[in-house]
Amino acid sequence: MRIDVVTLFPDFIRDSAALGVVGRAQERGLLAVHGWNPRDYATDAYRRVDDRPFGGGPGMVMLAEPLSACLAAVRAADPAAAPVVYLSPQGARLTQAKVRQLAAQPRLVLLCGRYEGLDERFIAREVDEELSIGDYVLSGGELAAAVVIDAVGRLQEGALNHADSALQDSFEDGLLDCPHFTRSEAEGTGGVPAVLMSGDHAAIRRWRRQQSLGRTWLRRPDLLARAGLDRADRALLEQFITQWRADHPAGG
Ligand code: ADE
Repeated sequence: MRIDVVTLFPDFIRDSAALGVVGRAQERGLLAVHGWNPRDYATDAYRRVDDRPFGGGPGMVMLAEPLSACLAAVRAADPAAAPVVYLSPQGARLTQAKVRQLAAQPRLVLLCGRYEGLDERFIAREVDEELSIGDYVLSGGELAAAVVIDAVGRLQEGALNHADSALQDSFEDGLLDCPHFTRSEAEGTGGVPAVLMSGDHAAIRRWRRQQSLGRTWLRRPDLLARAGLDRADRALLEQFITQWRADHPAGG
């Protein structure tokens, strides 16, 4: 997969995409991340990429012309069609389902805004989709683009070392992940649920599923309402709730 990022800070995108799983995916030839700076496509003597907004008010707006010229160069660099995604707090909230959809594309173009954002006419003309990574405001789209690149990059076939670890992630089945434990010199096996050391794989699977359901009930009831639980799940969750209520008589 190829991801092109239009940003005033291409070094940030390149550096962050060189780390960890995403960096390894690039080394393995599964992913290529390219940064493009609209300032390189500005035509005036000052290489301006922003100007004051019509109607006044604080802040500056990114000019359509350098963005259009930059995007034209991005498109010309590879014949594969690519959805153009603008990262902004006005976008639809990014979800794991959306990440999966983007990860299945051969190519993706991400646009990062700075200042008050991009000229709306450029957005109307060029942007296929506007995405937000959460209900808070960042000073630019770069961190959001890095989030998308990470979430999409790790799903490229062969990027993760354990083929099934992506399937066990939080949200892949609409639930939060279960707790995980590993060796501790200081603590030994203290605090580790006995079932995890029982060697009974069916019981371990059941415990993990129950913890996922229980944590989702406790922390993200909104997800649980949409998760479509079968009878076995509902029974596991009821058992979890009964136990939790017995352990927390004051309800907290
Ligand atoms: N740019 C600024 N804030 C953002 C957010 N919350 N999500 C995506 N892009 C942004």
